[in-house]
Amino acid sequence: VTEVAVPARDARPGGRWSTPSLVEDVLHLAAVERAVAHVTAGWVPKVPELDAKLRLADGLEGAMARAVALREHARTLLERDDEALRADPAWVEPLRALDRSADPVAVVDGVVDDAGAFLAARYRDLAGQLDPLYDARLLATVHTAVDALARRAGQPGPVAASLGAGRSSGPAEAAPLDALVWAPVDRVPVPARPAGRRRPLPGAMGHLRIGSRRELHNVAGELNENVTAELCALELLCRCAYEHPELAWSTQLGMARHAADESRHAAMFRRLLAERGIDEAGLPQHATNYELAYEFPDCEPGSGKELVWRLLLLCTVLEALAIDKIPPEIATLDWLDQPDIARALDYIAADELFHVDHGLRLTRELCAEHGLDPVLERELVHGRFFGRQRDLRSRYLEADPERAAQEIAALAGPDPDGVPFQSRTERELRRRVSFTEAEIDQVDRWGYNPRSAG
Ligand SMILES: [Fe+2]
Ligand SMILES: [Fe+2]
Repeated sequence: VTEVAVPARDARPGGRWSTPSLVEDVLHLAAVERAVAHVTAGWVPKVPELDAKLRLADGLEGAMARAVALREHARTLLERDDEALRADPAWVEPLRALDRSADPVAVVDGVVDDAGAFLAARYRDLAGQLDPLYDARLLATVHTAVDALARRAGQPGPVAASLGAGRSSGPAEAAPLDALVWAPVDRVPVPARPAGRRRPLPGAMGHLRIGSRRELHNVAGELNENVTAELCALELLCRCAYEHPELAWSTQLGMARHAADESRHAAMFRRLLAERGIDEAGLPQHATNYELAYEFPDCEPGSGKELVWRLLLLCTVLEALAIDKIPPEIATLDWLDQPDIARALDYIAADELFHVDHGLRLTRELCAEHGLDPVLERELVHGRFFGRQRDLRSRYLEADPERAAQEIAALAGPDPDGVPFQSRTERELRRRVSFTEAEIDQVDRWGYNPRSAG
């Protein structure tokens, strides 16, 4: 029997696919998008100015979503051979260099404008080469990318030039795509905040409400505290993503989506401030929730347990408490005739359910991986976080007894607005986001709400 050699498909006139370098083009774009998401996540907490911080953050989910989609397109073309998902580290070296920069402005411009322009041009080139029928799915991803980047990117500059040079050097050294992004270059225990804005003393309340909630200074103070809480959530998630590049891309995408919500929430509260003509420059700034949840004496820095503690605290303690606290807050705002803020909170409350749901599932997975019990670890991190908060508060109060007496009187005095709404443990909402009955009893026991009936 004479065996006839099977013709090499790549040797076909025009190549195997619609364009000869299709697989490599897709792997290259996946690699660059993943690296853009990585630099973005690492840097959001390090950018001081809020407009720039949120502009950078707003690219995270899109970049990670495109990276995941492109990885999947490549996997399809490679007949689901995960071993063949490879990329040249030189492709992303310019972004790695940018990550080592010390200049936040250079990083934001380099990632958003410059790398964005490079990607937009690559996607446009690819769109021109694809077959509308054979490559229909890939083309849909590419068109979405072209639209998204056209709205965001600026002019190509040095980053685009070196990304282009890295690509044309060819796949000299192909590393596994999933291991392409680098280990974190630093830790960020204190995130950057705008220069020149007052910072409350440790242990002071971010906003001490004196007088009616209808007064503009109180509206401003509370909106500003909300901006702060959203920024802290955004920044902590970003660092969780960046400091753990070993997490699966699908996990990274979940965190990016969650972070994108927090970025949008911060923008919502900033818009409500601007619509009232309130200048943020006169309002205090801090990052207490981030700082108290970033690292713990109980966890080795950078460890899986530290990641679990951060996520348990943020997603399953603080954001879960928001599930209980937001409904009476919305009722109060409607009742006080502040419907624009009430509507913003309605949107945020809906997102919060996703955040808790996502956080519960993710921490259960991570706990299983590290041999930890999520209910016990939640109890421990809850104690550690609020214990630190209480210690800071005690030291602040003890430092100035007269000031302490005034603040306590303001907090204990009658509510001038007579707000009739009270929080409760939202058992049904908590069930919907996958809390077990034992976990709902756990929060009930902590006593932040009057005990619920079950
Ligand atoms: Fe939020
Ligand atoms: Fe949230």
